[in-house]
Amino acid sequence: MKIFIDTGEINEIREANALGLIDGVTTNPSLVAKSGKPFRALLDEILAIVDGPISAEVISTDCDGILREGRELAKIHKNIVVKVPLIPEGLKAVKIFTAEGIATNVTLCFSASQALLAAKAGATYISPFVGRLDDISTEGMTLIEDIRCIYDNYGIETQILTASARSPMHFVQAAKIGSDVITAPFGVLMQLLKHPLTDIGLQRFLDDAKKIKS
Ligand code: E4P
Repeated sequence: MKIFIDTGEINEIREANALGLIDGVTTNPSLVAKSGKPFRALLDEILAIVDGPISAEVISTDCDGILREGRELAKIHKNIVVKVPLIPEGLKAVKIFTAEGIATNVTLCFSASQALLAAKAGATYISPFVGRLDDISTEGMTLIEDIRCIYDNYGIETQILTASARSPMHFVQAAKIGSDVITAPFGVLMQLLKHPLTDIGLQRFLDDAKKIKS
């Protein structure tokens, strides 16, 4: 399973990349606004750090606007993936982007039927938001299972990008189900690494090492 980091914070991207953890980056307008940087400048910084797919989201909601924005984004670098909302105008644009060879990440997916339609439009990635489903008392990971089953039934090549992941359990479940990719914030990636028995065990080894006769 590939791992993307879901952030607009350059320090987090740099650290996760140095740890060898990440294969790509996802951003969204909220994360870009939080970074305090202009969108283009932020993308340039990310592209200089990570050599992998970088999702950059359009903010138009009509097909012509999405196409205009997406083509500009795609021109920046071959690693840019145009992130498009899962709305009818978005799917029209995805079909055209696909014909033009522009990679897409269809975002804000909350149902298996939406995921099937995004795949039919030719989406490179589908981003089901599991955490936001959990937030409304729905089992988000069930959606990943459903999409995996449907895509496998028909040999669909659209990659499942588990998004809005909030915990190590989302991560483990996504891997068990066979999600192609997961994107998670820096904090969750760090939680994946931590285990109290690792820390306790290391401390004991270091303490005992002091007793070794020279
Ligand atoms: C996906 O690409 C989104 O950027 C993201 O995962 C949304 O996560 P959130 O629900 O924690 O905002």
